[in-house]
Amino acid sequence: MGPHRIEDTMIGRSLPAMRMTLIKTTLAAATLAVAAAGTLAPAAAQGDKSPEQWIQDRQDNLASAAAATKSVACALKGEGCPRAFDYLGLQARAIAHAARMAPQHFQEGPFPDAEADTTALPKIWDDYDTFVQGFEPMETHAREMIQAAQNEDLQAYAAAFKKTTDACSECHDTYRED
Ligand code: HEC
Repeated sequence: MGPHRIEDTMIGRSLPAMRMTLIKTTLAAATLAVAAAGTLAPAAAQGDKSPEQWIQDRQDNLASAAAATKSVACALKGEGCPRAFDYLGLQARAIAHAARMAPQHFQEGPFPDAEADTTALPKIWDDYDTFVQGFEPMETHAREMIQAAQNEDLQAYAAAFKKTTDACSECHDTYRED
């Protein structure tokens, strides 16, 4: 959309000063957008991320898995959380997605000088490939939960949930500070 179009459609001829301001603002924004597109290729964006942001991203990702896990546990124990299968399916999808995203959030570390608390142990980055394999059972079993929810099979859902949370503990026992 060029300035002429904005001028013609949005601003009356009686407001020339405002019109010029808007055109300038629009052009400035467009210039910034072009500059940003030129410099922020996806890889560069990750490369520019601060240590604190890396830590926050990986913690937020796992915290969202934990939110879903807690809701599912509460539902299965009959402690008042929704037990409808569509809801249980959505929770499982949140866990599966977090598992899928997790490896990329651990690509860099351990950042011992970062001004952010982390419980990730430095040995993760001694063998990143082995570490991230731990997210595979988490995703596999979360996807079994999704399937079970689709089949409206609560017993299968609960069994897959148990395996999913086993995957959490197994990794935490090895790679996270107590
Ligand atoms: C392959 C390893 C691995 C798996 C699998 C894993 N986690 Fe974690 N988790 C970690 C590590 C490492 C940290 C520490 C991150 C940090 O503090 O920088 C962590 C941190 C957390 C945190 C703390 C986040 C915060 O705010 O500090 C929660 C909550 C959590 N995980 C929940 C889960 C749940 C729930 C699952 C399973 C559904 C799970 N994790 C599966 C490795 C894993």
